[in-house]
Amino acid sequence: MSFRSHLEGLKDLKTVKKPVSKKLEASAVINELNDKPVLFEKISESEFKVAANIFPTKQAIADYLGCKVSELIPTITNAIENPTEPEVVEQAECQEVEMEEVDLDKIPILFHCENDGGNYISSGVVVSKHPEQGQNLDFHRCMQIGKDKMVVRIVKKRNFDTFLNKQKEMPIAICIGNGANVLVAAATSVEIGRNELEIANTLKPVKVVKAKTFDALIPAECEFVLEGTISLEELHDEGPFVDLTETQDVVRQEPVFTVKKITHRKDAIWQALLPGKLEHKILMGMPREPTMFKKVNEAGVKCLDVNVNPGGCSWLHARIKIDKKNEDDGKKAITGGFAGHKSCKHIFVYDKDIDIYNDEESEWALATRFQADKDFVMKEKEKGSSLDPSAEPGTKMTSKCGFDCTAPLKTEGKSFGKAVFPKADLKKYLE
Ligand SMILES: Cc1cc2nc3c(=O)[nH]c(=O)nc-3n(C[C@H](O)[C@H](O)[C@H](O)COP(=O)(O)O)c2cc1C
Repeated sequence: MSFRSHLEGLKDLKTVKKPVSKKLEASAVINELNDKPVLFEKISESEFKVAANIFPTKQAIADYLGCKVSELIPTITNAIENPTEPEVVEQAECQEVEMEEVDLDKIPILFHCENDGGNYISSGVVVSKHPEQGQNLDFHRCMQIGKDKMVVRIVKKRNFDTFLNKQKEMPIAICIGNGANVLVAAATSVEIGRNELEIANTLKPVKVVKAKTFDALIPAECEFVLEGTISLEELHDEGPFVDLTETQDVVRQEPVFTVKKITHRKDAIWQALLPGKLEHKILMGMPREPTMFKKVNEAGVKCLDVNVNPGGCSWLHARIKIDKKNEDDGKKAITGGFAGHKSCKHIFVYDKDIDIYNDEESEWALATRFQADKDFVMKEKEKGSSLDPSAEPGTKMTSKCGFDCTAPLKTEGKSFGKAVFPKADLKKYLE
């Protein structure tokens, strides 16, 4: 299944027929619709349609992958541990049309927020290649700075950054309009040299094709492909940009991507992704849940579930549900959790009776089961997420801590279980 066929099958898709501007108007409508998928049939400045909010919830991702929400962690874990080679095709939908001249103004790259530095690609999956280490896929926001130039935000020390530092200049392909298998795989953090397209293929089969300008395999059924060269020799201001935390990121000098070729499907549909909103949050946080789950189990604690929850920007907070067997399991789970998600700042551990998707219930457990002097874990100051506005400016040093919100196994005094009230069928009592 492709992004296109998934879109065609969406029963709750809203369609906007009147012309909408790519500057602030489309993003306003996408934001108002929140978790409802939308297709803009006419963008004022472009011949192409735009779709958004396609994977804003775990349910939407699970539907695409053909599993239940509760099966996402094992499904993603299985794909990471058992990658499979995608089918290579000669002819691909994403290369049906080759634009005669490279002109990024012809593409509906949205301008999202009032103070953004420019039009931004935020859903682009970047395919890069290293001569010895092979392919890498990840996301990098790109700000348009000319008809054929974009500046690319690259977080330091991740695989793409390592590839670029070794090569100084390298060809890349930015692929837009992908299904959840490719998006989730690109968002995983796996060891260098692992081609995430093989993870995507285990999640749901994906076809790949050779890029037009360099020796890399790209998702054949995506909507647009921008091929060109990224160079450390040419830097440019990137930003401001509203990031995952819904706060404005600082302006940094970042490498420039010179676009040399643009190919697309016939009647291609641009995939927009609203920065900081639900879809961005799901794609950032969800792929960390399997790694945290694994590390908690490796720490000797039975992990039942992990929720890298949206209230914590789907990045800085995590809720871990355990089957507590020993008094120190909560603290061990905190240690395991941090090992599974290095950018996490606050971890909360709960018993199996707590619904970790329910904010009120999670806070109830903190209120009734947590004692700061015994259940609080303070870590040494360390380097944190570049996204956290409260981390030390420049160094990004941050304080991290964990909250063991599990009840003691042996109780004295009051009990910790929530009382069960009698049930009534209201139809019998109210007209
Ligand atoms: C929607 C989305 C946008 C992202 N934007 C960026 C970005 O602009 N720059 C960046 O370095 N990482 C960004 N990331 C995170 C990278 O994709 C993440 O570092 C990657 O999954 C790790 O890849 P690696 O294991 O190849 O290093 C983004 C992730 C998502 C899901």
